[in-house]
Amino acid sequence: MENKIYNGNCLEILPSIEDKIDLTFLDPPFNQNKDYRFHNDNLSDLEYWSMMKEVCSKIFNITSSGGAIYFMQRDKNTENVLNCLRTTGWSLQNLIIWKKKTSAVPNSNKFGKHYQIIAFACKGEKARIFNKLRISPPLPPNYKNAYENGVFVTDVWDDIRELTSGYYAGDEAIRTENGDRFHKQQSPISLLLRVILSSSNPYETILDPFAGTGTTLVVAKQLQRNYIGIEIDPENVMTIHDRLNTIRKSDIIEKYYNDYIHTDNLKRIWDIDNQAIIKSYKKEQEVSLFEV
Ligand SMILES: C[S@@+](CC[C@H](N)C(=O)[O-])C[C@H]1O[C@@H](n2cnc3c(N)ncnc32)[C@H](O)[C@@H]1O
Repeated sequence: MENKIYNGNCLEILPSIEDKIDLTFLDPPFNQNKDYRFHNDNLSDLEYWSMMKEVCSKIFNITSSGGAIYFMQRDKNTENVLNCLRTTGWSLQNLIIWKKKTSAVPNSNKFGKHYQIIAFACKGEKARIFNKLRISPPLPPNYKNAYENGVFVTDVWDDIRELTSGYYAGDEAIRTENGDRFHKQQSPISLLLRVILSSSNPYETILDPFAGTGTTLVVAKQLQRNYIGIEIDPENVMTIHDRLNTIRKSDIIEKYYNDYIHTDNLKRIWDIDNQAIIKSYKKEQEVSLFEV
């Protein structure tokens, strides 16, 4: 199949997709009154959740049997997310807690917020693909022996750094000419790497219907997955094309390979498209692949 990037409203485009989707990463605007150029982020709860149901249902229709969806949201919307997935046919597999590495957001009359949720669900009772990744987290202080073969990734992800604002966003955040972040909701490469490695195999098809800066597609491309992205804002679509044509040093996934080294089938699922990366480096002459 051919990889595709659509500029438009996913509600209109999803029904016209003829390819079967194996995995979707769903990171919509969270309806927090953020300043999106082409989207009203201040809908009533009713409008917002009926729109999200329509999106989930349309994705379900084009998903292969046993295919997966990862729906990211704020913790306060957990009930709505679960309801939205259940009523549109999806079967919940895990409610993943993505624990932030930054300090918790304080609250005066309840516990401070320290995580975001990612609901992992599939079409049918069980996911057709689930690759059991192994990582090597730092040993807790009271442990004497190192993990020889790492440990399985659980439903608490506390080792992935979000791209925060300002200096700490690091090189990965795309910047405008005056140094501001181009897109405040850009997801980290390492988050998509975990999602794609866990729930797909090479040459399967990955969808991101709210593609933003194209993080999902940039990781899918490097891992030899097919990809389809939809994004409503034309400026973002241009950024996606640039990001895919020239893989930036900070977007290269190879630096994470050793984090997953104890995964049994890593060589098979991490089928890196070195040619694509080398070509884009040659084009840019930014840095040698071997320095990464
Ligand atoms: C939370 S951001 C996604 C960020 C993305 N994960 C990344 O790494 O850059 C949501 C994106 O959805 C886009 N969007 C909003 N409504 C849309 C719609 N109806 N169809 C397609 N894209 C839409 C917004 O322009 C925004 O870029």
